[in-house]
Amino acid sequence: MNRTKKSFLVAGNWKMNPSSHKEAKKIFKEIKSVAQKSRTVQTVVFPPFVYLNEITNDVIKKCSLGAQDIFWEEEGSYTGQISASMIKSYKAQYVLLGHSELRALGETDAVINKKLKTVLKHELKPIVCVGEQIRDTEGWYLHTIKTQIEVCFVGIAKKSIKDIVIAYEPVWAIGKGATREATKEEAGEMAIYIKRVISTLYDTATASIVRVIYGGSVNTKNCMSFLEAGHVDGLLVGRESLSSKKFGEIIGLVDGIK
Ligand code: PGA
Repeated sequence: MNRTKKSFLVAGNWKMNPSSHKEAKKIFKEIKSVAQKSRTVQTVVFPPFVYLNEITNDVIKKCSLGAQDIFWEEEGSYTGQISASMIKSYKAQYVLLGHSELRALGETDAVINKKLKTVLKHELKPIVCVGEQIRDTEGWYLHTIKTQIEVCFVGIAKKSIKDIVIAYEPVWAIGKGATREATKEEAGEMAIYIKRVISTLYDTATASIVRVIYGGSVNTKNCMSFLEAGHVDGLLVGRESLSSKKFGEIIGLVDGIK
C-alpha cells in the first residue's frame, strides 16, 4: 500500500467533558487551527450534545463534528433522547456507536444495530466501537469481537460498509482504569481479524475497504506506532483529545506519516 496517499481518521471523544460551553468552543477552535493544515488527516471531534450548538459555526471540512450517541426513532415520546435530524441540524457528520462506556450502562449489540441503521439512513458516518473486556490467552476475545460485529451488522447492506468505520477499543485499554494500551501488534492483528470477519459476512472486496481505527490510551508517544505498523486507519482518542495541545500534536504526527 502506498502510505503517502493514505489518509487517516483521528477522532477525539470528549465524553462528559469539558464542564463549560466556553471551554468547549475554545478547545475546538484550537484543534481546528491544527487540523486545517493537515494534508492526510481527517479530524473529528465528539463533544457532549449540548455543545454542538456552540461549535457548529466553527466546523470546517478537515475538522468535523460528531455526536457521541443517537436514538433510533425519528421523533416522539422518548424522554432524554436525541434524533439523527437533531444532530444533523448542527452539522454533525459522524456518530459514535457502541462505546464501551454505553455498553457498560446496558447498551446491547441489538440496540447498536438499530442505531447503525438509523445513522446510515440519515447519511451520517458511523464509528462502531467493538472491544473485549479481557484479553485471555486462549483467544476467546476473538469470539467476542466476532459476535459484536455479527449482531451490530445484521441487515446492513454491502454497499453501506464503505461508509462505516469500526473502532477497535479493548475495554482494558480505555480510560483511567486502563492496565496498558494495546501493542501495535495487537492493534494490527485485530484490524486484520475484523476485516476477516467482514469478509465472511460480505466478501473480500468489501473487507478491503472497511476502515478500522484503534482506541484506548492513545497519546502523543504511542500514536505513531499503531499506524506505522499498517492495517490501522486511524485513532480514537479519549483523554488526550481534551488537551488541544496534545491532540494537535497527535494530528500533526499522524499527518507526517510517510
Ligand atoms: P482513552 O479513551 O483514550 O482516554 O483511553 C478512549 C475512548 O474511550 O474512546
